[in-house]
Amino acid sequence: MRVAVTGASGRLGRALVSALADAPFSGPAGPIAWDRAAFDLDAPEGVLECLDRDRPEVVIHAAAWSDVDGCALDPELALRRNGTATGTLAEACAARSIDLLAISTNEVFDGRRTDGRGYAPDDRPAPVNPYGASKLEGERLATHAYESAKAGSLGIVRTAWLFGTPGRDFPSRILEAADHAAAAGEPLRAVADEWGTPTYVHDLAEAIVELLAADAIAGIHHVVNGHVASRAEWARDVVRRAGAEVVINEVSSTSWQRPSTPPRWGILAPTPLPSGEPLRAWPDAMADYAPALLRATRARA
Ligand SMILES: NC(=O)c1ccc[n+]([C@@H]2O[C@H](COP(=O)([O-])OP(=O)(O)OC[C@H]3O[C@@H](n4cnc5c(N)ncnc54)[C@H](OP(=O)(O)O)[C@@H]3O)[C@@H](O)[C@H]2O)c1
Repeated sequence: MRVAVTGASGRLGRALVSALADAPFSGPAGPIAWDRAAFDLDAPEGVLECLDRDRPEVVIHAAAWSDVDGCALDPELALRRNGTATGTLAEACAARSIDLLAISTNEVFDGRRTDGRGYAPDDRPAPVNPYGASKLEGERLATHAYESAKAGSLGIVRTAWLFGTPGRDFPSRILEAADHAAAAGEPLRAVADEWGTPTYVHDLAEAIVELLAADAIAGIHHVVNGHVASRAEWARDVVRRAGAEVVINEVSSTSWQRPSTPPRWGILAPTPLPSGEPLRAWPDAMADYAPALLRATRARA
């Protein structure tokens, strides 16, 4: 199976290319990695040439403008990059009967539910920030393209709170902030009332390979590691693994000024994978990631 990945140099893109390279269905040529030079969200029509040159059977669309605060500061650009560009890709794929798996986010939901349950695929999306709105627009345009063309399959994989190399994920930013706080003799502030499911890009990539292998990409999938965490709980886990000497002060999200408003309860109810096995709990995945995280942090220091 010829599988192309957009955003192949990104956090998830790298993990996907690596997991696909090991998948028996990829064949000796391996996956087709499209980085920004091949598929730029600011010039999405360039994908037509890529599709006709590389002739994939499936495209996994992992490229996005994932800077949620940047999206909040420029919502129109966010809509173009995460909405319109996804629509352009979907139309081009559907016109060629190429399957598409578009990666989306928990931030399509408002996070206001209070019953302690996670959001299911058929819950009504209602984004509370421009990043979520732009990703939902991407979902909508892709769905429209496949419904109109009546050819190929569309899958949407929503996920949340991704971590993994390369740096600048939440764990690496927390370690940086912990260093600054320790040097200044101050506590580290961490938000206690925003919840999500930290998800390791390697586990997500393996789950996507499983969907492809079982020919089960169609529909909306919620793929996240197990167990809920608040930002503060995740920060504590990271700081403990690094052995950092810093006091953590739990604060309310209302005291944390940032351009984007994250959903408070950003929990996705995982949908079943073909194996019937859920992804492991996020602390177990963090244990696998910790050595690489700590190496990268020390190299930056
Ligand atoms: N990160 C999260 O916590 C999270 C949570 C839920 C869902 N998601 C979704 O998961 C997918 C993968 O996210 P990620 O964390 O792997 O993102 P990432 O590391 O920021 O990677 C995004 C990729 O998109 C590429 N890209 C192409 N054109 C771009 C343009 N004009 N502007 C900005 N980037 C452009 C980037 O290229 P360069 O490498 O050249 O920069 C990069 O490879 C995205 O669909 C995202 O919305 C992410």
